[in-house]
Amino acid sequence: MLEGKKILLGITASIAAYKSILLLRLLVKSGAEVKVIMTPGAKDFVSPLVLATLSGNEVVIDIQNDNQWANHVMLGRWADIFVIAPLSCNTLAKMASGLCDNLLLAVYLSATCPVIAAPAMDEDMWRHATTKRNLTLLQKDGIDILPVNKGELGSGLTGEGRMQEPEQIMKKIIQIIGGFKLLSGKKVLITAGPTHEHIDPVRFISNHSTGKMGLALAEQFNNAGAEVLVIAGPGVSSSLNISTINVLSAEQMYNEVMSKASEQDVIIMAAAVADYTFLHPGNKKIKKKDSSLTLELTKTKDILKALGTSKKKGQLLIGFALETNNGEANAKEKLKSKNADCIILNSLEDTSSGFGYDTNKITAFLKNGTIVPFELKSKMEVANDIVNLTIEMINEKN
Ligand code: CTP
Repeated sequence: MLEGKKILLGITASIAAYKSILLLRLLVKSGAEVKVIMTPGAKDFVSPLVLATLSGNEVVIDIQNDNQWANHVMLGRWADIFVIAPLSCNTLAKMASGLCDNLLLAVYLSATCPVIAAPAMDEDMWRHATTKRNLTLLQKDGIDILPVNKGELGSGLTGEGRMQEPEQIMKKIIQIIGGFKLLSGKKVLITAGPTHEHIDPVRFISNHSTGKMGLALAEQFNNAGAEVLVIAGPGVSSSLNISTINVLSAEQMYNEVMSKASEQDVIIMAAAVADYTFLHPGNKKIKKKDSSLTLELTKTKDILKALGTSKKKGQLLIGFALETNNGEANAKEKLKSKNADCIILNSLEDTSSGFGYDTNKITAFLKNGTIVPFELKSKMEVANDIVNLTIEMINEKN
C-alpha cells in the first residue's frame, strides 16, 4: 500500500507513545521505509532500541551528536511525509512558536514534505485556550492536525484527548501519500431526498427530507475514489459532477434502484421513501365538494427490503432509520428484517439532527452486533464516518 514511500515518524513525550510502536509496525508492513525521530523526553516512554529494531533504521534523538545534527535538513527533505504521533502539549507549543531546542523541532522547521500530527494529552490540557490557540496556529501553518479520540486517558480520567488509533493514523497517511484512493474501483449507489406521491396532477404528499445527507455521502464516497451513482428524489441535485438520476415517486425510485442494484458493491438507502402512496391517483384535479374527503393509500414497495432479499455476494447494504422513539430497538429490528449490513440510526429526539439541518448525530448498528455511536457533527463529517465504516465492513467481508 505504501511501497517505496518514505515516512518520518516523530515521537514526543506522551504516554500515547506506546501506540507509535504499533503505528511503526503498520507502516513497515505496508511497505514504507520509516525513520524515527524522538524528542529526548520521549525516551522515557518508549525504547529507542525497539523503534530502531522495528524500523531497521537508527533512531535520531540527540541534537548534540554532530553526525545527527548535520542530518536534520536532509531528513526533512528525505521524507514524503512527517508524521508526529503523539504530539505532546509541549512540542505543540514549541512548534507553534517556532522554537528549535531539539532535533525533532529542527527537522520540523526544515521539512519540505506534508506534516501531520496526532495530539495526545489530558482533557483539561486539550480544552485549554492556549492549546486551542496553538492548534489553530499550526493549522494555519498548513499542518494537518488529526482529531483526538474520547476515552480513558493517561491520568486515569475519561474524556477527550486520546491519540487516534494507529489504524486511523494509517488511513490518513494513505489518503495523503498513498497515491490511490481507498474505494477506487468500487461502485456505490446512494439514494437521497424525499419522494412525491401524487394525489392528482397538482397535489402530492411527501416529507421534509432535503437530501443533504445523501448528497454529503455522494461527495465523500466520490472523494474516496468510488464510482458513485445518486438516485435522488425531486429537487435534489449535487453541485458536483456526480452521476444523478432524478425520480419522483417511491415506485420510480424502486424501479431505478432495482435496475442498477446488481452492478453495485455498496448501496446506501439514505432517501426518505414514502411508505404509502395513493391507490387511485387522479389524472384530473380533484374538485372541492363534500366537507370531508377520504383517499385510500396503499403500501409502497420497500426498496431496502427488496435489495436485502436479492443481495449479491459481497455486496454491502446500508439503510437509515429515522425514529422519533425506541430508536435502538427499531434500528436493530430494521437491520434484521431488511437483511442490511448496517443501519444508521437518526433520532429526531436529538437536537440539530435530521431533516434540513447541516449537522447530524448518528449511531451505526452493524450486522456483527457492533454499535458505533457518533457525536453531533456536520453532515460532511458524518458522511466521512460512514465512508470509513464502509471501508471497515468491506475489509471484514474480504
Ligand atoms: N426504505 C425503503 N423503501 C421504502 C421505505 C423505506 O427502501 N418504501 C428504506 C429507507 O430508505 C431507509 C430504511 O428503509 O433506509 C428505513 O426507512 P424508515 O422510514 O426509517 O423505516 P420503514 O422501513 O419505512 O419503517 P417505519 O416507517 O415503520 O419506521
